[in-house]
Amino acid sequence: MSCRVEDLLEFLLTRRSIRQFKPDPVPDDLILKVLDLARYAPSAGNRQPWVFVVVKDPEVRGKLASLRSGAAPLARAPVGIVVACDRSTSQLSYQVDCACVTMYIMLAAHALGLGTVWIQALANTEEIQKLVGLPENYVPVAIVALGYPAEKPQPRPRKPLEEIVYLNRFGVRMISS
Ligand SMILES: Cc1cc2nc3c(=O)[nH]c(=O)nc-3n(C[C@H](O)[C@H](O)[C@H](O)COP(=O)(O)O)c2cc1C
Repeated sequence: MSCRVEDLLEFLLTRRSIRQFKPDPVPDDLILKVLDLARYAPSAGNRQPWVFVVVKDPEVRGKLASLRSGAAPLARAPVGIVVACDRSTSQLSYQVDCACVTMYIMLAAHALGLGTVWIQALANTEEIQKLVGLPENYVPVAIVALGYPAEKPQPRPRKPLEEIVYLNRFGVRMISS
């Protein structure tokens, strides 16, 4: 497969957080394809400390969705993916590794026509561990709500580049405004 650079850039720019989903189930082979691709995310020492718990059970998804108001999209998505990392194998960087693989999940899903939103898991780690049976050393870092998009949100605003880029030293602007 060959892609034009413009198509690849367009792909990055068109990912949005999706919080409204069609009720259609996502076939298992598509869920597994997303996770198969996500395995190629980078991780410290290539330790790949992550595991994925695919939550289709509406009761468990509902309980995850009611942990905090920001988790509500999980009640509307047919699938939630709890991304958890083994902190004992990657003590320094398990959260970063987990963030990388979560982003890969979201990009792979976008490439396959699925919508996602990252649901914060760090505020409720123990409840999430209990709900999906994770051992104590597997820390949930994110839950991805996954399904077919039922909305087309406008892009959220981004800070201007000149405000966030410095040259050699913090405070020295690389781009003059
Ligand atoms: C670490 C992290 C936690 C987030 N937590 C939530 C959340 O709990 N609920 C939610 O609806 N969106 C959540 N989001 C999605 C952000 O709100 C979203 O990425 C941001 O507003 C930019 O919008 P975009 O993804 O459409 O570009 C989270 C994103 C990140 C990276």
